[in-house]
Amino acid sequence: MENIIEIKDVEMHFNMCKEKIDNLKEYFIKIAKRQLMYEDFIALDKVNLEVQRGEVLGIIGYNGSGKSTILKVISGILKPTKGIVKVNGTIAPLIELGAGFDLDLTARENIYLNGSVLGFSKKMMQDCFDDIVEFSELKDFLDIPMKNYSSGMVARIGFAVATMVKTDILIVDEILSVGDFLFQQKCENRINNLMAGGTTVIIVSHTLDQIRRLCSKVLWLDKGKVKMLGDTNTVCDAYEGNLK
Ligand SMILES: Nc1ncnc2c1ncn2[C@@H]1O[C@H](COP(=O)(O)OP(=O)(O)O)[C@@H](O)[C@H]1O
Ligand SMILES: [Mg+2]
Repeated sequence: MENIIEIKDVEMHFNMCKEKIDNLKEYFIKIAKRQLMYEDFIALDKVNLEVQRGEVLGIIGYNGSGKSTILKVISGILKPTKGIVKVNGTIAPLIELGAGFDLDLTARENIYLNGSVLGFSKKMMQDCFDDIVEFSELKDFLDIPMKNYSSGMVARIGFAVATMVKTDILIVDEILSVGDFLFQQKCENRINNLMAGGTTVIIVSHTLDQIRRLCSKVLWLDKGKVKMLGDTNTVCDAYEGNLK
């Protein structure tokens, strides 16, 4: 089988300022004197991963373990500090709830905005606008600013837009956990349909049942390192054993 994603020895470092600085003047003096102390924070540490076309990969791990960071590296939002990332296809990244939305705009406006962020043309969005609205079940709320939406409503629109146009890879970061049960089921059905059509899916979720139902393979990240990678049930069992 062909690898659609290949990650070799990837590291992502963030510079974090260690000192507490009271004012801007002090900050510039320290910069000028090169006295600022930075801590090199390693969010991803020598991560290796291969995903085959059509696979559904789950990523699990505690908060801050690097799950969103690896998704950003895969979608090209972040350039890794070290290592190689190869992606052989188009991506619809649903990274953070509301990313790609301007919450002062209405849902109608945001559907077009989000579509263009994902690289879909206006014509494409016009063609699938009604489907997006129908899937999200928010027809009566289309013309109010999205700042009045609940997080579940934002997730509905985000998921509907990202999955409306077929891409090779769909990335879903914790979005499925905010919706209500019925909507989660609807999303799972759609993911299953996309999978049947050959789409590669990467899902980050704290709901292990969801991971077990959907994924063919699971990556467990711990403090930026690969703790375990392999068969879904084996990795989920080990993770759950670790929580007890
Ligand atoms: N842009 C950034 N600058 C500094 N630190 C970051 C940045 N993005 C993420 N981090 C840090 O990297 C670690 C991993 O973050 P993240 O990938 O969001 O974790 P997860 O999604 O698993 O909860 C966290 O400690 C977070 O604070
Ligand atoms: Mg995250």
